[in-house]
Amino acid sequence: MKPQVITLHINGRTHNIALSPNLTLLTVLRDLGYTDVKCGCEKGDCGACAILLNGVAVNSCLVLAWQADEGEIITAAGLGTIENPHPLQTAFSDAGAIQCGYCTPGMIISAKSLLDQKPHPTEAEIRDAISGNLCRCTGYAQIVQAIQSAAEKMADGGEG
Ligand code: FES
Ligand code: FES
Repeated sequence: MKPQVITLHINGRTHNIALSPNLTLLTVLRDLGYTDVKCGCEKGDCGACAILLNGVAVNSCLVLAWQADEGEIITAAGLGTIENPHPLQTAFSDAGAIQCGYCTPGMIISAKSLLDQKPHPTEAEIRDAISGNLCRCTGYAQIVQAIQSAAEKMADGGEG
């Protein structure tokens, strides 16, 4: 297949990439080194590969990379830094919402998307927002607690 050149803006960095048009965005992101984007099922079932594309949470395994040409992409790692983590990143750590960590980036992206739309979600809304993200380890209670805690901190004036 003939390669095409696309431009992706990822976590504030611009990449011009020649690629085969059949590659998924998930594959391209991981090949570029954004390995916080996890590869689980590769068919839209687990949410491990979730990212924000132009502000919308999507499973990157279901998007062909060329479809994201000129897109603004944020991965979970791009939400904060070690020195200045996002409240969701801090809350997941503090609440013990991370065990193996494989689901965590996708969970945080789904939570960020929810809080962008609903800064004060109910528990039911949180559970609904992460219903496409599978976690084999935590039983979800600490994850819900982490998102509630981050929402409260952000409402108190923390960064969002
Ligand atoms: S790897 Fe994309 S949804 Fe599972
Ligand atoms: S922490 Fe292991 S899958 Fe969620």
